[in-house]
Amino acid sequence: MTDASQNLDRVLVLEMVRVTEAAAVGAAKLIGRGDEKAADAAAVEAMRAALNALDMDGTVVIGEGERDEAPMLYIGEKVGSGSGPSIDIALDPLEGTTITAKAGPNALAVLAIAEKGGLLNAPDVYMDKIAVGPGYADGVIDLAKSATENVRAVAAAKGVQPGDIIVCVLDRPRHEGLIAELRALGCGIQLIPDGDVAGVIAVTNPDTGIDLYMGSGGAPEGVLAAAALRCVGGQFQGRLLFRNEDERARARKWGIENLDRIYALEELAKGDVIFAATGVTDGSLLDGVKRRRDGAITTESIVMRASSGTVRRVYSEHRG
Ligand code: FBP
Repeated sequence: MTDASQNLDRVLVLEMVRVTEAAAVGAAKLIGRGDEKAADAAAVEAMRAALNALDMDGTVVIGEGERDEAPMLYIGEKVGSGSGPSIDIALDPLEGTTITAKAGPNALAVLAIAEKGGLLNAPDVYMDKIAVGPGYADGVIDLAKSATENVRAVAAAKGVQPGDIIVCVLDRPRHEGLIAELRALGCGIQLIPDGDVAGVIAVTNPDTGIDLYMGSGGAPEGVLAAAALRCVGGQFQGRLLFRNEDERARARKWGIENLDRIYALEELAKGDVIFAATGVTDGSLLDGVKRRRDGAITTESIVMRASSGTVRRVYSEHRG
């Protein structure tokens, strides 16, 4: 274990829960209020204040956008007191802004931290993703292969028919072809309206019944999901998708040279990684923020660490 990973462990594991709790409680006031921007702003402000209260030399590597487009928690922003461990941070104070505005399921406040250079500095473009839960031989999924080949490989490894496989997919017109291909195999498809960090993590939880995650979503969310799977097990691959020259230029600016590269889990989140999330609305991973009749606010969070494989669930009551 390196000194830096001891720092991640001793100082920051439980502190990270405070940070995601603050963001979730901030956003929760806006659940079902139809205002995505206000919900996001509340989460960002609360998460930033909580991060700045910590003794660390943190740098946001995945955040709310580039400096000129995001006033707070922009990529490159320094957070924390400046003393303490030097860490990189990937964050999404409100993963599921539309979900929150509509009071739907699975909105989360999320962050991942790693030693310097441990998280892919992914530009805000789409990423093609595939994920499977733990217990399969390495290489059972391969983004270079078709959806059909991947479903058949997972079905064979699980000892079931392809039609028995359940796949989680973001409900988007761009996934029409993928959905048709999966339907032709007879797969069950769980279509989610938003929130693919929770969608990817769902493959690691047998209670969800989901075997595979497939399709494209945000690249930053891909890095966050990869950080979670580094801690809890499972396989994930991602490939950046570019819609225009501007997006390609953005990737090159962040030092990405091979734009067609397929990233394995360890290339998205390497070394010791801590992942923390707090539920904003109820979901498959966590319960959402609730206000009790006595005025206390309750939150449920998960915090996990790659190097130890520890997974902690934290139920908190906040008063005053
Ligand atoms: P926001 O919280 O930023 O709205 O992201 C929600 C989300 O569903 C992500 O989980 C997902 O990666 C991305 O949006 C998909 O993007 P799009 O809505 O453009 O398909």
